[in-house]
Amino acid sequence: MAKLINRVESRFFSIAENVALSRVMVAAVAAPLDLLLSQLDEIKVAVSEAVSNAIIHGYEGRADELVGLAIEHWEDRLTIRIKDNGVGIQNIAEAMEPNFSSCGDRMGLGFAFMNSFMDKLEVFSEIGKGTEVILTKMLQEETTESNKG
Ligand SMILES: Nc1ncnc2c1ncn2[C@@H]1O[C@H](COP(=O)(O)OP(=O)(O)O)[C@@H](O)[C@H]1O
Ligand SMILES: [Mg+2]
Repeated sequence: MAKLINRVESRFFSIAENVALSRVMVAAVAAPLDLLLSQLDEIKVAVSEAVSNAIIHGYEGRADELVGLAIEHWEDRLTIRIKDNGVGIQNIAEAMEPNFSSCGDRMGLGFAFMNSFMDKLEVFSEIGKGTEVILTKMLQEETTESNKG
């Protein structure tokens, strides 16, 4: 069983400013990990997309609802959960299809980015109860002092 090394949890208001906050928090937790800068950027994009979705779709733009963000650094992976208690998703498979959006003016690529930038994407949702998105990035085994050569 992999060991849990760090866990950071927060809840914040459903306003656009907090999309930036979520990026900073994930970057801070992921900074000590052995990730490429490009991978770190991709993780930040995936988290931004999920948090934006919670605000725009889950809470339909209401500004005083709570979005939950839990970041876990396990020995072998980084797991990020984004949760809202909003409207929920009718058809998860359809919502996850590239280019599907329930809002005509949107690109419908949020889930596509989350899917391609992360190693695992899980979506749990219930109508009228809300949505939880779980993003996972697997980590390379740490190079220890003894096997650095
Ligand atoms: N947290 C959420 N709550 C309710 N619906 C959501 C949520 N996240 C995504 N959705 C639904 O899934 C669709 C696809 O999401 P996404 O791929 O990010 O595209 P976009 O945000 O551009 O519409 C959204 O249009 C919306 O209908
Ligand atoms: Mg989106």
